[in-house]
Amino acid sequence: MTDRYAVIGNPIAHSKSPAIHGAFAAQTHQHMDYGRILGNPDDFAGDVRSFVAAGGRGLNVTVPFKEQAWALLADHSSRAQAAGAVNTIIVLDGGLLRGDNTDGVGLLRDLTRNHGFAPARKRMLLLGAGGAARGVLQPLLDSGPAELVIANRTADKARGLADALRAGTNGNLHGCGLDALAGRRFDLIINATSSGLDGDVPDIPDDCLADDGWAYDMLYADSTTPFCRWAVEHGAARALDGLGMLVEQAAESFFLWRGVRPLTAPVMEMLRGGG
Ligand code: ATR
Repeated sequence: MTDRYAVIGNPIAHSKSPAIHGAFAAQTHQHMDYGRILGNPDDFAGDVRSFVAAGGRGLNVTVPFKEQAWALLADHSSRAQAAGAVNTIIVLDGGLLRGDNTDGVGLLRDLTRNHGFAPARKRMLLLGAGGAARGVLQPLLDSGPAELVIANRTADKARGLADALRAGTNGNLHGCGLDALAGRRFDLIINATSSGLDGDVPDIPDDCLADDGWAYDMLYADSTTPFCRWAVEHGAARALDGLGMLVEQAAESFFLWRGVRPLTAPVMEMLRGGG
């Protein structure tokens, strides 16, 4: 029987995950089927139960269910635990469910392996303090930056996130409001806010990107995202959108389910319209 997988979210119609996993399966000759599920905001647990009862082997979880998925499951990987969010559910033999989170590793792999960014001793700025920011915080810290500043429109949320994680750091993690960034310079600015969905950019100083600084927008779109446009206009050495992260987090989920690592470059090229 063909193993079944799916992505669950709401909305879900425009998810690229079925195309990505379909391409991975074809490339690695895995017999699997990957669909999409429009999750019920009032009964996420019921949707997961039905999928598993019908023989499902794994789920990707996307907006707005990642935190609910974390709360639903008892068994988490350490990276899901650190994120407080689950983007990958693995159905173990016997029907037990394990929650993992591949978003952070996806971001780091895209930055470092695909684009050659060297994170050690860099000054990093993470914009946003919602679920997207929390999902990547621990892997960013683990990459050895000189400092990691979380800045958010609502300053208290950024301070809260930094306070929660500071115990395990060497004092290089700080949280603040966007208005506290005046005079600061960063080698890497990551946009984890949802501002781009409204065509907007966080209100940050014009000169907070260092010479040769990089910008990474966790959002992706068919055309240049507002934050990438801002970055190019403000002298970024590189301005990357989140398509690479999307494909890399999917590859890590695929590996967790199937034990096989697909090549990501051809799939990125396919999604960019080149393949
Ligand atoms: P997600 O799960 O995508 O992180 P979220 O938890 O709703 O979604 O968080 C959205 C983040 O984007 C928040 O950090 C939010 O800032 P506030 O906490 O101040 O609301 C940020 N955000 C959304 N629109 C923004 C804008 N126009 N400018 C700056 N930050 C914005």
